[in-house]
Amino acid sequence: MRELALHVLDIATNSVKANASLVTVEITAKDNLLTISIKDNGKGMSEEFVAKVTDPFTTTRTTRKVGMGLPLLKQAAETSGGTFDIKSKLGVGTEVTVTFRLDDIDRVPLGDIAETATTLLYPDMDFVWIYTVEDRSYTFDTREIKEALDGVPIDSPEIIAFLNSMLKENIESINGGLVL
Ligand SMILES: Nc1ncnc2c1ncn2[C@@H]1O[C@H](COP(=O)(O)OP(=O)(O)OP(=O)(O)O)[C@@H](O)[C@H]1O
Ligand SMILES: [Mg+2]
Repeated sequence: MRELALHVLDIATNSVKANASLVTVEITAKDNLLTISIKDNGKGMSEEFVAKVTDPFTTTRTTRKVGMGLPLLKQAAETSGGTFDIKSKLGVGTEVTVTFRLDDIDRVPLGDIAETATTLLYPDMDFVWIYTVEDRSYTFDTREIKEALDGVPIDSPEIIAFLNSMLKENIESINGGLVL
């Protein structure tokens, strides 16, 4: 995939499908290391299932026989000197953590995280995005946004457009001229 942001969208979509009510995405760039973790409180997976989940033929999809989200992210991490880790517990939730060496020539660019975050706005589930570069950090919490919206749906077109530009601005300011 061209952007890590699209991988994040893929992995977070797994959390949505697993009926999570809260997903926390942490993106941290520090000391030449980019760490992305996606943690949910969805239905989780059994130990046996997690052990084989990065095999493309492991899927609970019914429309096709292969699931590519996790295998592709694992491959993106490991071909650029990074790591992939998944922890899951049935009935508790799942956490996927990947690292990338920022200066690795094979690393996929981070891409448009604001776009991914605004694609994932749902009235009945919440996301917390914690975006950190060196010692600068920004948190976007849909629970706080919903409170401020006072009943206006978070997925209405005007709100989506507004939050998208707000996220873009904040991420840019955290980047401080750096292109991740
Ligand atoms: N966060 C999660 N919580 C519970 N189960 C998960 C989670 N993430 C993945 N799974 C399980 O692992 C399987 C494989 O996930 P993966 O993203 O690799 O493929 P997929 O979602 O099946 O298909 P695709 O991502 O290509 O649409 C899923 O079908 C699902 O059963
Ligand atoms: Mg998937």
